[in-house]
Amino acid sequence: MIVGVSGSPRKGATHHVLSLALKMLEERGFEIAIFSAHDSRIELCRHCDFCRKSKRCVHEDDMIKLYELLEASKGVILATPVHNGGVSAHMKAMLERTRALLFRNPEALAGKPGMGIAVGGDRNGGQDLALLEINAFFTMNRMIPVSGGSFGANLGAAFWSRDTLEGVRNDGEGMRSLEMTVKRFAEWVEKSERIRKSF
Ligand SMILES: Cc1cc2nc3c(=O)[nH]c(=O)nc-3n(C[C@H](O)[C@H](O)[C@H](O)COP(=O)(O)O)c2cc1C
Repeated sequence: MIVGVSGSPRKGATHHVLSLALKMLEERGFEIAIFSAHDSRIELCRHCDFCRKSKRCVHEDDMIKLYELLEASKGVILATPVHNGGVSAHMKAMLERTRALLFRNPEALAGKPGMGIAVGGDRNGGQDLALLEINAFFTMNRMIPVSGGSFGANLGAAFWSRDTLEGVRNDGEGMRSLEMTVKRFAEWVEKSERIRKSF
């Protein structure tokens, strides 16, 4: 199963393009699941270190569902609106809260491909910075960061929404970056599965 995570506080442009990415993967035969911040309760990490000792988070909120999805997944898509030139606070909160999952199972994400999607209201509003933050998370957790490559999707899928759903739908370059990234991501999910099975 491929899990797609939206870090937007609303069901808007990010949710829309993440759904398109998941549909493309479903058409390629992958099982999919979506988790979105807009309809979830996600507390902030308190750095209480309860998870270090107890291997679970002190908060009992919707992250429990996300932990299950991440652990069961073969690949992860992190989609964020650009907020102040980086990932949204909702996305950041979810990334920080994976600490509890990783204390319980340090292998939970290892070897899994990950791709990022960033949706900014401005043309150059920080999409690349948000994607770098997402790719850093993948690297730190021994995942395989996947982009669509040069000539269109260097760090992942990047959209210019002009702050509207209509805007993101009409962003042809953004859609091209999504198609390029999803194509490579699907290839890597298949490759990584073959590698895992060979062990
Ligand atoms: C708090 C906040 C900060 C934002 N900061 C940026 C920014 O730094 N760069 C940018 O391009 N857009 C910024 N935006 C605009 C959103 O990225 C844009 O409207 C995006 O399409 C929202 O996606 P959504 O509909 O999925 O929430 C910001 C929006 C909010 C609410």
